[in-house]
Amino acid sequence: MSVFPASRLRRLRRTDTLRAMVRETSLAPGDFILPFFVTHGRGVRDEVRSMPGVFQLSVDELVREVRELPGLGIPAVLLFGLPAAKDPHGREAYDKDGIVQQAMRAIKDASPETIVVGDVCLCEYTDHGHCGVVENGQVLNDPTLELLAQMSVVQAQAGADVIAPSDMMDGRVGAIRRALDEHQLADVPIMAYSAKFASGFYGPFREAADSTPQFGDRRSYQMDPANGREAMREIAQDVAEGADMIMVKPALAYLDLIRRAREAFDLPVVAYNVSGEYSMVKAAAQNGWIDEQRIVLEILTGIKRAGADLIISYHARDVAKWLP
Ligand code: PBG
Repeated sequence: MSVFPASRLRRLRRTDTLRAMVRETSLAPGDFILPFFVTHGRGVRDEVRSMPGVFQLSVDELVREVRELPGLGIPAVLLFGLPAAKDPHGREAYDKDGIVQQAMRAIKDASPETIVVGDVCLCEYTDHGHCGVVENGQVLNDPTLELLAQMSVVQAQAGADVIAPSDMMDGRVGAIRRALDEHQLADVPIMAYSAKFASGFYGPFREAADSTPQFGDRRSYQMDPANGREAMREIAQDVAEGADMIMVKPALAYLDLIRRAREAFDLPVVAYNVSGEYSMVKAAAQNGWIDEQRIVLEILTGIKRAGADLIISYHARDVAKWLP
């Protein structure tokens, strides 16, 4: 390796064009999946207090927004639902007329080229707010698998192009794969939230999706933030069970794991730039403390540089408008 003065790294930083020519990582609208929160009613647009610019939308409003995405180059959306009523088993999650299923049919009608990803998890639908069936204060693994599998089939039948389980029960990818295959849905891929951590960064999402656990927390199923090797085991297990894409979530405090996933696995790696990561940037920008556009592009470039192929981000629409 040549050193100074033969090597002067500033030579390639002299002009905009030169810098662009040697840039190693670039963002494009096609890298993004935009999440939405869909709610019952008509004409509903309720802004989430802790997530400026993010709304709970009724299906009609959602469809209006999704129609604009192909023009912006954003290929995919991720749907979360706010049910009319919650109960211990989260019934609306796997009702064919549940709110997310209605939204899926409407989107596939209005904007057929948009890829619809269905988040599969019970926490928005259960009255206790946990991601599975609860008995004696415990979140039960195996009885939950049956409901997640049913939810996946119902979503795929409503038009979901991709099924994304976020519950963190053991064995759910295999259970969902089997159920889809048995229902002639073998072509529907699974994007597994494989390395999903029990994170404080989900705080604002729980307001948006009204999914705060009513007792305890999610540490008995979501991962301990301290564990990187275990994250690789989670991913390996999901791959073995039939995952088509793998995910690391949250993104920013886990960039090392995005990198490790990229190096250890050849499946597409998805990173979830979660609600708390979004809200911190928004709050600081609203205070005039940071330059929002610059910071957002820097964060997302960092996630991509770490190894993500796709990024789920609430900033996606802004980014698509900012990119040249
Ligand atoms: C449902 C789910 C959550 C998120 C995505 N799916 C919340 C949680 O696990 O508590 C978080 C997304 C975000 O914070 O943006 N289990």
